[in-house]
Amino acid sequence: MSTSETRGSLGRFPTTRLRRNRQYEWLRDMVAETRVSPHDLIWPLFVHDKAECEPIVAMPGVNRLPIKEVVKAAADAKSLGIPAIALFPVVGSKQKTVDGQHALDPENLICRTIQAVRAETGDDVGIICDVALDPYTTHGHDGLLKNGRIVNDGTVAVLQQQAVVLAQAGCHIVAPSDMMDGRVRAIRTALDENQQEQVEILSYAAKYASVFYGPFRDALGSHAALGTAKSLGVADKKTYQMNPANTDEALREVAFDLDEGADLIMVKPAMTCLDIIYRVKQTFGVPTLAYQVSGEYAMIQAATANGWLDGDQAASEAVLAIKRSGADSILTYFAPKIARQC
Ligand code: PBG
Repeated sequence: MSTSETRGSLGRFPTTRLRRNRQYEWLRDMVAETRVSPHDLIWPLFVHDKAECEPIVAMPGVNRLPIKEVVKAAADAKSLGIPAIALFPVVGSKQKTVDGQHALDPENLICRTIQAVRAETGDDVGIICDVALDPYTTHGHDGLLKNGRIVNDGTVAVLQQQAVVLAQAGCHIVAPSDMMDGRVRAIRTALDENQQEQVEILSYAAKYASVFYGPFRDALGSHAALGTAKSLGVADKKTYQMNPANTDEALREVAFDLDEGADLIMVKPAMTCLDIIYRVKQTFGVPTLAYQVSGEYAMIQAATANGWLDGDQAASEAVLAIKRSGADSILTYFAPKIARQC
C-alpha cells in the first residue's frame, strides 16, 4: 500500500486523514495501541542497615532505606497495584570480602529484609532479589576473581548457594544478574534439591556491559570497589556482561537461559536496547522484562532539575516506549510516580 493510494491522491481531498484520530484526548486514548498501567511496573529499592533514609546523590529522589521503610514501600506497592519489588542490599564495607561469603549468611541484610517484607505483605507483593556477588565483594565484581580473571564455574557454585539462601528467606523470584555461563540450570537444580521448586528464576539474560549502571554502583558502594579491582587486573565487567555491539548474541543468551529453566527473562539496560527487547519478544514469546537502569533514571532527573525536560512526561514517555518495544514488565525507579499518574 503506497502513500499515494492511502491518501487517494487522485481525488481533490485525501480520503484518509490520519490527523482526524488525533483531534481530542478521548479519541487519542481510544485508539492508543500501548498503555502503561501499574501492573506493568516493578519497583527497585535499596536497603541499608541504618535507621535513617539516605539520599543517593546520582539518583535524585531515590534513597537507601532502612528495613522498616522498605516494608512500608512494599505496602505502598500493593496499594498502588505494582505487583513486585526488587531489593538491593547496601552492604557495609566490613562485610565485604574478596570471595563475598557474606552473601551466604542467612541472617544478612537482604535475608532480614525479605523476612520483614513477607511478614507484612505475604504473597501479595512479589519479592525479587539479585543473585550475584557484587554487593559483597571488595572488588565489586559479580563473581570470584582469581589470577586476574572472573572464574565461571567456581562462581556458579557460590551463586547456587546464594539463591537457596534467598529462597529460604522467602524471596519469590531469584534473579541471577551475574552473567556466568550455565548458572540458570545450576540454580534451578539447587533450588529443586532444597525443596524450593516454587521459586521463580528471572534471568538477566541479555545484560550488557553498560556505563548506565554507574549510579547504581555508587548507591551500593561497588563503584569504588571496581576501581580497586583495576590493580587486580579486571576493572570492568566486559568479560562477562555483553558487548553493546551485539544482538544475535542476546538471542543466544536468552535461548540458553530458557533451555536451562528460566521462567522470566530480562533485557538490560532498556532505552539503549529497545531493538533487543523487540527481537527477544518476537522470537521467543516469553515473559520479557526490561530494566530502565539507574543511569537512564539519572539522565531524566538531571535534565528535569535543570529545567530542560518535563520530568513527569519524560518518565512516562520513556516507560511507554519500553513497553511498546515488547516488554511485559518494566523495572523502573519511577514506578511509584508513574503508578500514581496512571
Ligand atoms: C549487579 C547489578 C547491577 C545492576 C543490577 N544488578 C550493576 C552491575 O551489573 O554492575 C544495575 C541496575 C541499575 O543500574 O539500575 N549485578
